[in-house]
Amino acid sequence: IDQPNVITCKAGKDLVMEEVEVSPPQPLEIRVKVICTSLCRTDITAWESQAIFPRIFGHEASGIVESVGEGVTEFVKGDHVLTVFTGECKTCKHCESKKSNMCQVLGLERRGVMHSDQGTRFSVKGKPVYHYCAVSSFSEYTVVHSGCAVKVSQQAPLEKICLLSCGVAAGLGAAWNVADISKGSIVVIFGLGTVGLAVAQGAKLRGASQIIGVDINPEKYEKAKCFGVTDFLNPNEYNEPIQQVIKRISGGGTDYSFECIGNTGMVTTALQSCCDGWGLTVTLGVPKTNPEIASHYSAFLSGKTLKGSLFGGWKPKSDLPSLVNKYMNREIQVDEFITHNLPFEDINKAFTLMREGKCLRCVIHM
Ligand code: APR
Ligand code: ZN
Repeated sequence: IDQPNVITCKAGKDLVMEEVEVSPPQPLEIRVKVICTSLCRTDITAWESQAIFPRIFGHEASGIVESVGEGVTEFVKGDHVLTVFTGECKTCKHCESKKSNMCQVLGLERRGVMHSDQGTRFSVKGKPVYHYCAVSSFSEYTVVHSGCAVKVSQQAPLEKICLLSCGVAAGLGAAWNVADISKGSIVVIFGLGTVGLAVAQGAKLRGASQIIGVDINPEKYEKAKCFGVTDFLNPNEYNEPIQQVIKRISGGGTDYSFECIGNTGMVTTALQSCCDGWGLTVTLGVPKTNPEIASHYSAFLSGKTLKGSLFGGWKPKSDLPSLVNKYMNREIQVDEFITHNLPFEDINKAFTLMREGKCLRCVIHM
């Protein structure tokens, strides 16, 4: 293979555009020309709560392989890919187990460096710029481990399927893989952003009979209906705890509760909202503050389960291509989550829209 050179291109750093040097891919890595990246709440949470700086955020993205590092056999230049914030090495204990998607080699990266050598592939005037979740898609080019990218059909529209690289896939997977919702179930979802509404879509496709959506933003209801939410509850409109209202309208508690806000207090509320005996609460949110969860032990004495999840339990390489196919066959909705399309220069607008609760997903076109 030809030895690729350093690329100089634009990338966002702390919402400031900088010329960034993107080094060639190292062994088993690929350099990707980012085509589209959508803004996910976790980018905001991480930006507001972490100290790693300077850094390039963005983790929900699609792109085209620009060059491949030594030893990469799975990709060639020109392949269409989705990047993933949690990889799949296919050989570790977790990758080999049907029960887990927590790859021990390429799992969630928290320090802003590449998995392989703890180094960065970005720099500005010779100073390192850190990565985010080993993806960093708020850049025209990025370098990712080949285990953190998934080859997808050339026919699939990259400006839509980027949503399947995180939020929409996470929600569908939580409903299907983690909770495994059965027909006729009653479901409550806390937080009706893209993640929560993807859970609603998953629940609807499984034949849930009642899908209760809880959100403090009344504007979310219209959109929620088209993803299957049957009852909308705004906790600010009630003088009693929302779990009491949920228990009443669900006839004693829901079969499944999903926390899609990133508020640990709501995990407790979600647990209190599900029914005794088999009630299952699944967490999808990523909290910014107060990471501890509090719950009265009686929840567990009455047979409830609290279950965590990351990326909806999907093994990215093994499972994402079939999810993309489902989209292509119109078996799942993705386009409906896209409320805004913006050029890269306007990335700040996407942050504002999300902070103000005015969007589901803003797709940023690079
Ligand atoms: N009670 C009810 N709803 C709330 C509350 C609250 N106390 N606080 C926020 N919400 C609602 C918001 O109004 C919004 O509609 O939760 C929703 C969250 O949606 P988004 O901000 O669009 O976030 P999303 O991208 O869907 O991610 C949700 O999953 O991946 C994680 O880090 C992510 O924790 C975040 C969660
Ligand atoms: Zn692995």
